[in-house]
Amino acid sequence: MKRILFSLLAVSAIAVTAGPSYAVSVNDYPAGQAASGIAGSRHNMGSLGSVVSANGTTEICVFCHTPHHTNTANGLKPMWNRGTSAPTSFTAYGNTIGGTTINNTDIGSTTLACLSCHDGVTTFDNLVNAPGKGGVVSGGSDLGWRFRMPVGSYLTAAADHFSASQCTACHGTGGLYTDNDLTSRLVIGMDLSNDHPVSVAYNTNRAGLRATNTTINSIDLTSEMASSAATAFTGNLAQNRWAVKGFISSTATISDLLRDGKVECSSCHDPHFRNLSWDEAEPTWGDEGGFLTYCTAGEGCADGQFLRRVGGNTGSGVCRTCHEK
Ligand code: HEC
Ligand code: HEC
Ligand code: HEC
Ligand code: HEC
Ligand code: HEC
Repeated sequence: MKRILFSLLAVSAIAVTAGPSYAVSVNDYPAGQAASGIAGSRHNMGSLGSVVSANGTTEICVFCHTPHHTNTANGLKPMWNRGTSAPTSFTAYGNTIGGTTINNTDIGSTTLACLSCHDGVTTFDNLVNAPGKGGVVSGGSDLGWRFRMPVGSYLTAAADHFSASQCTACHGTGGLYTDNDLTSRLVIGMDLSNDHPVSVAYNTNRAGLRATNTTINSIDLTSEMASSAATAFTGNLAQNRWAVKGFISSTATISDLLRDGKVECSSCHDPHFRNLSWDEAEPTWGDEGGFLTYCTAGEGCADGQFLRRVGGNTGSGVCRTCHEK
């Protein structure tokens, strides 16, 4: 049965041109360069996207933004074009050791925005303002689009969110890839008590947090480590640049990572930044059975988890930028 599915997929595979060969390091992301690359990343879900792609449109931004009729419920921004779960339907982190409490009602704008796909419930095509003459449905509605994997034909319209039962036919236990359970890796879910606190105030007297006016680029991440740390992975611990306001910055402060004074999903991630400089994580994106037609392996497949930090989380550089540990 598995063999038959394998060859069906192989025959129906569409021709995808091989990506460029990458040799990207932190030095390829100098200060001032745009934090770009969404078109070639997993966050391009239009029909020209390379991973999970829709049959309804070639547009990229429309899956998240629209110029008019935006969804502003629960303080949603910027220019949000999606239906989301209600803040109170999430389980927040609760109490931290430092004594901060995060209630369900605290779940904030950009976290709600990310979770409008990564909650595992809301469908990828749940949009407010459909492209062209498609109409406006306040609060969003499912457009019935069909999505396709990197290979093979369009799946049924019901296979349109991360936890869809149809996904496990190929992914997860008993599927084509037992080692690649995408329905769990990419689903942050409705329970946020098992995630790094989000929608949490940045109180500098807790958790060893640095002052909000600390210039990120000036933080010393190497001196307490072995002398090789400065050069490890082409120096990505010795440099500490983050994508802020759409550009790689060497002057940004920790304040620039906060939204309304809080840590949200977008404090650590920039959903538009195809960050290919996390050398250490790249080898974990391998070619499984020759199906990765949209890339070969490593850097070409990875989006560096859309992390804002150039060099990714090498030496826990993301964590130690906020926490002086
Ligand atoms: C997968 C969802 C998603 C897609 C697709 C997306 N965005 Fe965004 N965008 C966001 C989120 C979430 C934020 C808020 C991020 C933050 O708090 O920094 C944002 C913020 C922005 C901002 C303001 C902050 C900044 O980083 O500059 C601009 C401008 C922007 N988006 C433009 C675009 C454009 C243009 C496209 C299409 C080429 C696009 N976005 C596609 C989710 C998305
Ligand atoms: C419109 C739906 C949508 C929204 C909104 C969205 N994502 Fe995603 N995200 C996806 C899809 C689809 C994938 C790719 C699945 C794949 O192909 O691996 C993905 C993948 C990711 C990955 C894994 C990338 C990798 O290298 O494997 C991260 C991290 C991520 N998203 C974070 C975010 C964050 C943070 C936000 C909000 C700022 C966000 N996403 C908003 C749909 C979305
Ligand atoms: C007919 C089989 C099939 C079904 C059903 C299917 N996929 Fe896939 N998917 C694939 C193949 C083949 C690939 C490419 C190989 C790979 O990347 O592991 C892939 C790749 C992916 C990737 C990128 C993986 C990576 O590591 O880069 C994501 C994410 C994904 N699928 C999500 C889903 C989701 C979510 C569903 C359900 C809505 C789903 N898939 C349903 C066959 C399928
Ligand atoms: C404090 C920083 C931080 C915050 C806040 C944060 N993330 Fe992440 N996230 C990371 C890091 C670091 C990774 C890479 C983990 C790894 O590769 O093992 C990651 C990985 C991910 C992944 C891929 C999961 C995997 O294991 O492959 C997704 C999806 C994701 N984040 C989405 C989100 C969403 C949605 C939010 C908000 C609810 C969020 N993140 C908030 C730091 C953060
Ligand atoms: C953008 C800044 C920022 C980044 C980056 C960051 N954190 Fe945090 N972290 C916070 C804040 C704010 C809190 C809440 C502290 C409090 O109020 O008690 C926190 C709390 C924590 C806590 C304590 C939770 C508790 O229950 O007391 C741990 C553990 C933690 N972070 C680990 C990490 C790790 C690991 C990383 C890297 C993956 C990371 N942090 C990255 C800002 C950050």
